[in-house]
Amino acid sequence: MATPPPHPRRVLVTGAAGFIGSAFLRQLLSAWPDVQAMTFDALTYAGHRENLEDLPGAERHTFRQGDVAEGEDVARAFADFAPEAVVHLAAETHVDRSILDPAPFLRTNVHGTQVLLDACRTAGLRLVLVSTDEVYGDRSDGVPATPTTALRPSNTYAATKAAGDLLALAAWRTHGQDVVITRCTNNYGPRQLPEKLIPLMSLRARAGEPLPIYGDGLQVRDWLHVDDHAAGLLAALARGEAGRVYHFAANRGRTNLEVVQAICAAAGADERLIEHVEDRPGHDRLYTLDDDATRRDLDWAPRRAFKAGIGETVAWYLENPAWCRAVAGEGLTTFLEANYRDRQAAERPS
Ligand code: NAD
Ligand code: DAU
Repeated sequence: MATPPPHPRRVLVTGAAGFIGSAFLRQLLSAWPDVQAMTFDALTYAGHRENLEDLPGAERHTFRQGDVAEGEDVARAFADFAPEAVVHLAAETHVDRSILDPAPFLRTNVHGTQVLLDACRTAGLRLVLVSTDEVYGDRSDGVPATPTTALRPSNTYAATKAAGDLLALAAWRTHGQDVVITRCTNNYGPRQLPEKLIPLMSLRARAGEPLPIYGDGLQVRDWLHVDDHAAGLLAALARGEAGRVYHFAANRGRTNLEVVQAICAAAGADERLIEHVEDRPGHDRLYTLDDDATRRDLDWAPRRAFKAGIGETVAWYLENPAWCRAVAGEGLTTFLEANYRDRQAAERPS
């Protein structure tokens, strides 16, 4: 086994009971056999202990339920665990929910990020802030955003993520704080909550239920496998330069329709299940990132091809009904039912 690069030995990961956080935690524990990790997660409707089952090196992992927006929760976790670095993934992440109710997005994504920044500054710790391509807004002109492109978020989720990024850059500039920001394109893979496109469509396709495409379905997203994103985060944690923004992308846009057609093929479902419903308000048509500098400076590149990855991902959801049941709490099902019913009704001619 290759010797791992110099790295922190005690890493606190916020949001690790979620989709990307749990994939990152798995890589962290297996890539660095001497690392101790703490999950710090509020277990909102999106966070589940099931995502932390069968961790490699589970004896080096501890779980702490806590809220990033509560300074006392964060202070206690820091005092008990004594982290050497923090990777911050905890967030409210669903664009549709942010349009309906901004409050939790402001609380967690803005205030919670400042709470963590303050705690890390006091303790002198590196903070890796995990952000998104959505902060740049619509790239319909097709020009990939670079890390210095102006932020023009289109929805409340993206605006609160942009605010978190700006607070982190301000802390770097004002206090010389060790912050590293990462921005990534859409992720896919196992353990994504089935309110997001790929798991939702996989499960509905298999059940023979309508597949609600927002608007014309020609919006373009650049899907990156979650394990490739996790590898990038590990590199940013170990080798990222303070004050820099790193991009992770697959560099291959696909329309939502193409993605849902690929899901139908993988699930053995009829494409006639596809149904066009009311569009997302302010829906961005295209996201695209220039990740040349990251590939060069972090020696990172994606390894997973979408064509193989999407088949494996759809299969994962279909082969893990116990996981699907475990994460489908009332907060998820009520939202999904209302979202589908309202969009379908809005689209139907009166
Ligand atoms: P997710 O919704 O699956 O998980 C979010 C996790 O954060 C959950 O475990 C939840 O319980 C936890 N959480 C929420 N509020 C919290 C709070 N106040 N305190 C502590 N924990 C809290 O999200 P995800 O898709 O895994 O995204 C993780 C991060 O990556 C987010 O910051 C997101 O903005 C970013 N990101 C996601 C994508 C994507 O395609 N999913 C792409 C780029 C960036
Ligand atoms: O781009 C990165 C972002 O990707 C992350 O920052 C977000 O946290 C993450 O949730 C994801 O946001 P999206 O809005 O792109 O993900 P979602 O899966 O909700 O939607 C993907 C695309 O599919 C989007 O264009 C909306 C569309 N869509 C989504 C759903 C749930 C549909 O057409 N129908 C649907 O039912």
